[in-house]
Amino acid sequence: MNKPMIAPSVLSADFGRLAEEIEMINQSEATVIHVDVMDGRFVPNISLGIPVVKAIKKHARKPLDVHLMIVEPEKYLSAFAEAGADWLSFHIEATAHAHRHLQQIRQMGLKAGLAVNPQTPVHLLSDLMHDIDLVCLMGVNPGFGGQAYIPRTTEKIIQLRELIKQHGVHTLIEIDGGVTLQNAAAIHRAGADVLVAGNTVFNAENPTLAISQLSHV
Ligand code: DX5
Ligand code: ZN
Repeated sequence: MNKPMIAPSVLSADFGRLAEEIEMINQSEATVIHVDVMDGRFVPNISLGIPVVKAIKKHARKPLDVHLMIVEPEKYLSAFAEAGADWLSFHIEATAHAHRHLQQIRQMGLKAGLAVNPQTPVHLLSDLMHDIDLVCLMGVNPGFGGQAYIPRTTEKIIQLRELIKQHGVHTLIEIDGGVTLQNAAAIHRAGADVLVAGNTVFNAENPTLAISQLSHV
């Protein structure tokens, strides 16, 4: 089995030292930089927006994996693409027109991601499988870092792996929320390609080492 790709989530970084935190990720074994955008409406928290994504992009030497936790994501897809997103995910629960928006993201030359809350069954993605490059499967209810992984997510990874196989596509499975050094191996073994980690990386004594440990589970 391949090594998991690691996506450190800057939500848990020190925003007063953002450039240094991004430089730490640049020099680590991370694959992408996960950036959480929250609007206080789709989720009960507000994080950061377009100017901060642009600032991160200036320092980043790895692709930006932008996770939109916002209502009406279609209004902002091109703005986040211009700000520097390389992977761009929005929530299936936030729109009735996921198919259209996935296509729009691909047309802009980005990887199209669909994020899925714990309440949403993965079989709802069935008719979209050829249009998704990345499923961002939530391991927690979105809104905050540092929450505990919902164990049922592992079964959803297995179901999603099956769906990917049935459709003969190469969709990446990303797990977002609650990934720790203790559960990362099992999550990867179930079929996850990308592990997002906020708390596990940025609250570690040595964040670079934590990224390395996660990528060698
Ligand atoms: C949660 C965010 C996550 C968050 C993960 O709503 O989407 O990306 O940063 O944080 P941890 O890894 O601490 O659960
Ligand atoms: Zn996220």
